[in-house]
Amino acid sequence: MPQSKTDRSTLRKARLDDMPTLHELINRYAQRDIMLPRTLGELYESVRDFTVCEANGRILGGVALHLIWNDLAEIKSLAVAEKAQRRGLGSLLIEAALNEARALGVPRVFALTFRPSLFLRLGFQLIDKNKLPQKIWGECIRCHKFPNCSEQAVLLKLGTARRRKKIADSQ
Ligand SMILES: CC(C)(COP(=O)(O)OP(=O)(O)OC[C@H]1O[C@@H](n2cnc3c(N)ncnc32)[C@H](O)[C@@H]1OP(=O)(O)O)[C@@H](O)C(=O)NCCC(=O)NCCS
Repeated sequence: MPQSKTDRSTLRKARLDDMPTLHELINRYAQRDIMLPRTLGELYESVRDFTVCEANGRILGGVALHLIWNDLAEIKSLAVAEKAQRRGLGSLLIEAALNEARALGVPRVFALTFRPSLFLRLGFQLIDKNKLPQKIWGECIRCHKFPNCSEQAVLLKLGTARRRKKIADSQ
């Protein structure tokens, strides 16, 4: 399992019993308007999307990778507990989601974020939100900020195993 370079935290796929802690963490930030709120029901339904970061049996943060289509996935619900921030855990969680996308063969991953710098450092590029498929707007339309939202869209193109094989075959 991957470990943070700065402490003994471990990344692993989420379990149902992690969800109440993530629910509290996400909704604490949602109250400050820096994340979209999630119900506990939504989190239980999407438990398989989540990776969590754990240290000494405590959940320090989490991230979800949500599949949109056969060529696109979204990084969602990224949150790290305040006391554990700025140690690289947020970046590690994003990288874990990207590794999962690679393993699934998803060629493009995007996020809607108020913190684009975090993603740009990992190779994402800013894109026009309107270029994203209509399917993602369902959630935005339910948000009280719609359509005046300052979230920015970032996208990363990943090399898929199939593409890498093609390149290898052509050499
Ligand atoms: C956004 C969030 C997930 C980042 O988590 P994090 O664990 O602090 O992320 P990292 O430590 O990888 O990076 C955060 C910053 O610390 C810096 N950093 C990373 N490791 C560091 C270290 N060892 N020492 C000092 N700074 C460090 C990074 O360069 C980054 O700088 P930036 O703020 O200019 O982008 C966290 O701040 C959070 O939960 N915020 C509230 C919820 C939220 O905004 N979620 C939506 C994100 S899309």
